[in-house]
Amino acid sequence: MIRSVIKGVGTSLPERVMTNADISKIVDTSHEWIVERTGIHARHIAGEGETTRSLAVAASSKALHDAGMSAADIDLIILATSTPDNTFPATATMVQADLGITRGAAFDLQAVCSGFVYALSTADAMIKAGQATGVLVIGSETFSRILDWTDRTTCVLFGDGAGAFVLSAEQGEGDNNDRGIIGSKLRSDGRYNDKLYVDGGPSTTKTVGLLRMEGREVFKHAVTNLSSVVEEVLIETKMTASEIDWFVPHQANRRILEGVAKKLGIDEAKIVMTLDHHGNTSAASIPLAFDAALKDGRIKRGQLILMEAMGGGFTWGATLARY
Ligand code: UT7
Repeated sequence: MIRSVIKGVGTSLPERVMTNADISKIVDTSHEWIVERTGIHARHIAGEGETTRSLAVAASSKALHDAGMSAADIDLIILATSTPDNTFPATATMVQADLGITRGAAFDLQAVCSGFVYALSTADAMIKAGQATGVLVIGSETFSRILDWTDRTTCVLFGDGAGAFVLSAEQGEGDNNDRGIIGSKLRSDGRYNDKLYVDGGPSTTKTVGLLRMEGREVFKHAVTNLSSVVEEVLIETKMTASEIDWFVPHQANRRILEGVAKKLGIDEAKIVMTLDHHGNTSAASIPLAFDAALKDGRIKRGQLILMEAMGGGFTWGATLARY
């Protein structure tokens, strides 16, 4: 059986760090409120010249280096983003050009904060269908550019950054001891598309729009949706929560992460949490967290990793992979 193996991981963060104290000077909020309600202490904010494209290219180059592979080995790029450099062409094609890749295909995928899980699952399906053998799966975002910096209920939550995985097609035995993606499940429910959205777009206002969110509504659905989609993946793969070595979730809110872990019976010590210094980086948050746990030696080859995310749409999903 063909498996999509995670060969390399790379990340990139903008230089500028914005602390809760910095944000308190812009809107009526406090370090204490933000930490208590979300767990966030600081986030990176893209400066002039730092874009979704440039962050994605930097993260991808590091992921290729980590994989010991070159750009010539890549025949598919999937870039998960809701903050592309331009409405079109796809930022993925710009990344393709910057990396000097002239074969295969590149496209953007838009599932907001669930983007990375959607992109991983799509890449895995294309690898298994024989459509690609070396895939760059990227999550890159500059949400600071679509935030309403007068709205304290949203601007304190998000940050910018990028992360990339290099996936490679390898032959496996077809059992759960194989390295690579073991199982994925994607979900959406469009009835909730007005709970987290941007109030503009090319076909409506001809503007980019700013992020709007009914945070409490999103929160209400998050733990239930995320736990149930993880349970579906566990059932399909005939695995149990106790077999998971590391839980690498989308970094939205500490209370959501801990709520999901508790509901699934995953030990809190297994949660990889980076939102304290990254904030919510939407589609970039999972690879950013994964990379942090790789660098500090927590994630090791052969371990079972659970990734999950929920975002605007609503969209949500989970992926189980053996690193
Ligand atoms: O990644 C995509 C998915 N997104 C998420 O998962 C986000 C999900 N939602 C959340 O994480 C939480 O709902 C928030 C962190 C956004 C908000 O936390 P909450 O505990 O749900 O707070 P709340 O919205 O119920 O607001 C509580 C109070 C309100 O004041 P009143 O009405 O009780 O007087 C807000 O006006 O906190 C107030 N408030 C703030 N106060 C200080 C809201 N934002 C702030 C702020 N600083 N930044």
